Amino acid sequence: MEMKVLQLHELLHVLAWLEGTWITDEPAMGMYPTIKPFNYYDQINITSIGQPMFNYIAQSWHPDSGIPMHRENGFLQILPGTNKVVLSLIGNIGAFTVEQGDLMSNDNNTLDLNSNNILLTDATVPTFSPLTKTRRVYKRNGDNLELIFYMATAKTPELTEHLRAKYRKVA
Ligand code: HEM
Ligand SMILES: *[C@@H]1O[C@H](CO)[C@@H](O)[C@H](O)[C@H]1NC(C)=O
Ligand SMILES: *[C@@H]1O[C@H](CO)[C@@H](O)[C@H](O)[C@H]1NC(C)=O
Repeated sequence: MEMKVLQLHELLHVLAWLEGTWITDEPAMGMYPTIKPFNYYDQINITSIGQPMFNYIAQSWHPDSGIPMHRENGFLQILPGTNKVVLSLIGNIGAFTVEQGDLMSNDNNTLDLNSNNILLTDATVPTFSPLTKTRRVYKRNGDNLELIFYMATAKTPELTEHLRAKYRKVA
């Protein structure tokens, strides 16, 4: 028998708007005190097969050359009976991040997540300063989604903006 794809789990109904494919129409912006500013495109696929979690795949690429850039895969979960969200990701730079926070209940359209656990594998990019903290804020505005991503590293110990992107839901 083939695997069944079931309806969206009831725990995720409050975040049903998040399911789908989100893409940057205009190049997104990357920056950090230690690097030259850069642009990129990004696509986020958020899917469900009925389990109490979303599957999360983000892939970015260079806007001129199309060459793949940062990627992250993981799961997004809501703790039952709360507005607490857990985003567990593995990125291709060799870092696992556990990012937790609240779905803001004043509108259910804003997710503000801070890392509470980071694990760097032995395959982490050796030229990058070690990641110590992350914060990401997703804000929905109709069919648009804005992301601001902050991080701290050993060299830059305060949370500092690294990414700013605006996505549109395309599917
Ligand atoms: C679309 C997503 C992203 C893109 C396109 C991107 C791109 C880049 C680029 C181009 C650099 C500079 C590399 C260099 O010149 O050496 C960089 C540095 C870095 N990125 Fe990202 N990045 C993305 C997301 C992330 C995320 C989600 C994290 C953390 C979980 C992250 C962590 C870092 C770190 C730690 C550095 C090194 C900074 C330093 O050494 O001071 N990046 N990123
Ligand atoms: C993301 O979704 C789009 C369309 O909805 C699809 O074309 C693409 O293959 C998906 N990417 C991944 C990695 O699943
Ligand atoms: C946000 O979601 C909660 C839980 O489903 C719900 O009780 C509340 O009414 C929602 N708030 C808004 C503004 O939709």
